[in-house]
Amino acid sequence: MAHRLLSASRVNARIAFIFTLSVSCTYLFYNLIIYRSAVMRNQGFEGKQCPPSKSAGGKKLLGKLENCASLEPSSAAQRGSSHLQRNTPAAAGGQWTDMNSRNMSVAQKYGNKKLPTALIVGVKKGGTRAVLEFIRIHPDVRALGTEPHFFDRNYDRGLDWYRGLMPRTLDSQITLEKTPSYFVTREAPRRISRMSHETKLIVVVRNPVTRAISDYTQTLSKKPDIPSFEELAFTNRSLGLVDTSWNAIRIGMYILHLENWLQYFRLSQMHFVSGERLITDPAGEMGRVQDFLGLKRIITDKHFYFNRTKGFPCLKKPESSSQPRCLGKSKGRTHVQIERDTIEQLQEFYRPFNIKFYETVGQDFKWD
Ligand SMILES: *[C@@H]1O[C@H](CO)[C@@H](O)[C@H](O)[C@H]1NC(C)=O
Ligand SMILES: *[C@@H]1O[C@H](CO)[C@@H](O)[C@H](O)[C@H]1NC(C)=O
Ligand SMILES: *[C@@H]1O[C@H](CO)[C@@H](O)[C@H](O)[C@H]1NC(C)=O
Repeated sequence: MAHRLLSASRVNARIAFIFTLSVSCTYLFYNLIIYRSAVMRNQGFEGKQCPPSKSAGGKKLLGKLENCASLEPSSAAQRGSSHLQRNTPAAAGGQWTDMNSRNMSVAQKYGNKKLPTALIVGVKKGGTRAVLEFIRIHPDVRALGTEPHFFDRNYDRGLDWYRGLMPRTLDSQITLEKTPSYFVTREAPRRISRMSHETKLIVVVRNPVTRAISDYTQTLSKKPDIPSFEELAFTNRSLGLVDTSWNAIRIGMYILHLENWLQYFRLSQMHFVSGERLITDPAGEMGRVQDFLGLKRIITDKHFYFNRTKGFPCLKKPESSSQPRCLGKSKGRTHVQIERDTIEQLQEFYRPFNIKFYETVGQDFKWD
């Protein structure tokens, strides 16, 4: 009896031993697998992980993105993401173009929308579109392609709405927009100064007589039934009484509008671009714009060529089109013939306003 009991307990001990051994082996085996996969994760895959977008920022990010370039959405796809947002054009040649486009796609993904620190505020038909297209070649400038009309028509929508329209920028980049009607909008200077006292203001001005004619030509192309230029420009032609309530005339009385701006901004915060020199010397004019914005002079002669048939300078390689972008696009419009007398009368009318304007700005625009 005692013998049988002994042998039974020996069998039990053997079973217990085998069981323990197999459990230990399994445990060891699993540990080995877990350890291996942990090693693989740490070594083999690390380089391919992209930084999370929220914590991203600065130079470190730029370095890391090299590794996940293939995971980035193509910049072409991003381009179509918003109709209000257009890329800064990549300009002709040079290494900086590639760097620029990389910075831009980084900015689009990781940058922030900021309120503009510079505005092209006027004037209509002065050459504002050209200045915008030229300045946005600069890698440190990101500009809104459309006119938001915030400080005149859309002010009620609030600054958050306005900021939402802006392209994303890196900290080093300037946000810019242009709306030419701001210059003649009574409330605009006060509203802009409430956004920031430090806003930089660019005004593109041009001989007010040619500006008025260009303005009228544009309106005529949309509404062919309007009265003649002369009928609109004068209240009494024989007396030489100019109708200063007509917008095409009023806009060109630059000094009156400028005085309103100078109640809110220092003259040093304003930069005046000559619409005439923009045609004869675009690089020189854009050089001064870059200086004013505190930018390195990157836009130079190399970016422009002169189209002799057109009689206007063109940008060599604007972004998002194979066509060169030229000043004076509307030149093809049938030009209204304005009598020499009318032009002289209007020159006379504007002269005192012009002279006061030159004196205030400290620049002779040579319109007289
Ligand atoms: C791109 O960004 C880097 C880092 O912010 C900067 O050093 C570099 O100058 C930028 N390149 C251009 C062309 O702006
Ligand atoms: C313009 O003024 C002249 C001289 O005062 C006057 O005879 C004429 O009727 C006026 N014309 C108009 C359209 O008011
Ligand atoms: C110059 O302008 C003319 C007229 O608009 C156009 O037909 C021509 O293609 C332009 N040439 C260049 C080189 O841009």
